Amino acid sequence: MPEAYDAIAPFYEQNWGSQFFSNAKGLFSKLMFRRLGSKPRVLDLCCGTGEFAAWLGQKGIAATGLDSSSRMVGRARINAPGAEFVRADMSAFTLPQRFDAVTCFYNSINHALTAPSLQGVLQSVNGSLNPSGWFLFDGIDEQGYLESWHADEVVRNSDQVCSIRYRYDRDQRLAICNITITGSGPERQYELRQRPYCRTELSEALVAAGFTVELVHPIHDSYPLQGRYAILARTKGNTDVSRPQITAPPGVRSISANRT
Ligand SMILES: C[S@@+](CC[C@H](N)C(=O)[O-])C[C@H]1O[C@@H](n2cnc3c(N)ncnc32)[C@H](O)[C@@H]1O
Repeated sequence: MPEAYDAIAPFYEQNWGSQFFSNAKGLFSKLMFRRLGSKPRVLDLCCGTGEFAAWLGQKGIAATGLDSSSRMVGRARINAPGAEFVRADMSAFTLPQRFDAVTCFYNSINHALTAPSLQGVLQSVNGSLNPSGWFLFDGIDEQGYLESWHADEVVRNSDQVCSIRYRYDRDQRLAICNITITGSGPERQYELRQRPYCRTELSEALVAAGFTVELVHPIHDSYPLQGRYAILARTKGNTDVSRPQITAPPGVRSISANRT
């Protein structure tokens, strides 16, 4: 997975970053901002190229971004010089500081491909929050992938062409994105995978990981128009969270998150 994002990093800001940033900014402004105290610290999981972290800094919020792709983090450091960035896997991280809120935007949670991986994300987030801290994220369910992941896209920069084929595999319950990069150097191919999660699955996983679910908010103003939602959860405290076993939902096969 990090290799695929390393490959698309040179195309990301120009083609997707600003659109995704407007989604993040809108959700944070609507659902999170007023709940924070003075001088909050926010961790942005799967921070991409750092547009949202830069905006948080402009709002007086101390931002840390975390992402598994070194090239996405490299771009983020340029875009948000006032923020801190960490290269890590969202399903297994510990950071030295605690945060008042953690965010994770634009189907990034869907990159957790298995139940243990999702469990690792939620436990890592819980462990990084201050008492009563918030977790705000958005995700896509199966309806959203069925609507939106049957497309082909071609984007270019000055010396390379990036062709992307989006498909949803109902049998595997996986959204698969095949990426081909041509231009300078030999042709390169990558694959990205995402797993749909319905609101109930995520709400149950959050409760099992020590959160209360404060609200579930359907999103109809960004693509796909159906099947995207935001969830705001609050930690009940992270000192004695046991490691509950979350079983894979029916029909979900266990697939290693490291395959892509
Ligand atoms: C769809 S992009 C969203 C980026 C950003 N949140 C935005 O809204 O533009 C997904 C991001 O998640 C990162 N990512 C994917 N899997 C990850 C993982 N297991 N741990 C940390 N970052 C991951 C990718 O490198 C990429 O930057």
